[in-house]
Amino acid sequence: MKSIGVIGAGQMGAGIAQVSAQAGYHVLLSDVSRERAEAGKAGIAKQLDRAVTKEKITAEARDAALALIEPVESVADMAPAFLVIEAATEREQIKRAIFGEFGKVLSDTAILASNTSSIPITRLAQAAPDPAQFMGVHFFNPVPVMGLVELIRGLATSDATVDAVEAYVGTLGKQVVRANDAPGFIVNRVLMPMLNEACFALGEGVASVRDIDLGCQLGLNHPMGPLTLADFIGLDTCLEITRVLFEGTGDPKFRPAPLLVKYVEAGWYGRKTGRGFYDYSGAEPVPTR
Ligand code: 3HC
Repeated sequence: MKSIGVIGAGQMGAGIAQVSAQAGYHVLLSDVSRERAEAGKAGIAKQLDRAVTKEKITAEARDAALALIEPVESVADMAPAFLVIEAATEREQIKRAIFGEFGKVLSDTAILASNTSSIPITRLAQAAPDPAQFMGVHFFNPVPVMGLVELIRGLATSDATVDAVEAYVGTLGKQVVRANDAPGFIVNRVLMPMLNEACFALGEGVASVRDIDLGCQLGLNHPMGPLTLADFIGLDTCLEITRVLFEGTGDPKFRPAPLLVKYVEAGWYGRKTGRGFYDYSGAEPVPTR
């Protein structure tokens, strides 16, 4: 049985671990502590229970997937993995420190991939044991639902590395798009300006939160309005990626909306903090403007 490593047991890492285990991989799951990795596994168990209740999967399939997920103490336990996916906090220094530990641990053929949504792959590759065996593998939230994975090659990434990761993603039943190492890659390059523009429109008093969201949801046939989606992703993350687009291209069309900056300064990050463009303290989200 093939083993993969997943670093980071938060929303994205847990999602990647879940879909990998459901595809039959043995998953070594790590976080800053074993307890955090265990908590990530407990969250996956809840997701799988829900899928059983909805009769999407059988109880046997849930038990089989859970049995394949092994919370581990540290990256030192990831030696058996043919592929390690890093989904840690979106901070370059944290990611670099993690990659630095791998030189001594991974086999010569193992691939290291980052789920970064915006940090340049070529730059991150400098901290990896071998830049030829390093690339970006960008999953979307919620991972079990979203059918896409973006593959991003750095300047030094080998064809064999891209092919191997593409084959792995194929076994998860997801589609692949290949992008070059440009700011925001494909999807965030297109998405973030739309979310940022919704923040400009709100800040300029064009319309209310409800009307911007309902207008785009029904008028564009999107599953969520842009302000709901920004809250779902996290306003801090949206601002971070928008800044990468702005700084990476030098193009003023990507400048962050002042209202988005203000909300992040206020600590209103969206769903995860209980308040963003909506207030999540009640049974239903309530628009705040
Ligand atoms: N984990 C697993 N499954 C989930 C889930 C989660 N967190 N959230 C919802 N689901 C499943 C539900 O179980 C349900 O499954 P079913 O149809 O088989 O019963 C299905 O998704 C639909 O869920 P709901 O009926 O509860 O709610 P909605 O119909 O409103 O769908 C949604 C929720 C799937 C989140 C949908 O609103 C959606 O697709 N929104 C857009 C999400 C999106 O754009 N994601 C990309 C963000 S960008 C990104 O990730 C890149 C990063 O770099 C920023």
